[in-house]
Amino acid sequence: MLGASGNFGTNVADVIEQRGHTVVRASRSTGVDAVAGKGLARAFEGADAVVDALHINTFGARKSVPFFTAAAGNVASAAHEQGVSRIVCLSIAGAADPRVNGGFDYYKGKAVQESIYQQAPVPSTTVRSTQ
Ligand SMILES: NC(=O)c1ccc[n+]([C@@H]2O[C@H](COP(=O)([O-])OP(=O)(O)OC[C@H]3O[C@@H](n4cnc5c(N)ncnc54)[C@H](OP(=O)(O)O)[C@@H]3O)[C@@H](O)[C@H]2O)c1
Repeated sequence: MLGASGNFGTNVADVIEQRGHTVVRASRSTGVDAVAGKGLARAFEGADAVVDALHINTFGARKSVPFFTAAAGNVASAAHEQGVSRIVCLSIAGAADPRVNGGFDYYKGKAVQESIYQQAPVPSTTVRSTQ
């Protein structure tokens, strides 16, 4: 679980554990930096699935697009190398729609993230929640 210390990740990791699965909680506080690609291979070793609940605190595309481009690219590569079967991307309803993200630049990063996972060599599921 990437972003396991965050609002979304904490709750999702708890639910997955309650359902009897083992969760590796990963974020910079546990030595995993998805943007730098640091620690991903070790975190994904033996994992069936990777859940991406990463976030950068910004309203702008200038930060959100490079963040999600680098993180999703590194996560997809590392997951592929480690033989992970599926990536689950937590996203936002409407974020990939230009009619929506044209008015909120953070969503442009989410649109890139969704697109990278949809084209990744590892099968992915995008879960779009409301804010
Ligand atoms: N909250 C909502 O209402 C909501 C609704 C719909 C969708 N979403 C989506 O769900 C995702 C998570 O949102 P959130 O609200 O839970 O965010 P959040 O509370 O800010 O959590 C972000 C998580 O990402 C980690 N992180 C940030 N940069 C990282 C990096 N370079 N490498 C590794 N970990 C990093 C943070 O931990 P460290 O600081 O320790 O690295 C933290 O665990 C986002 O993609 C968001 O768009 C959220």
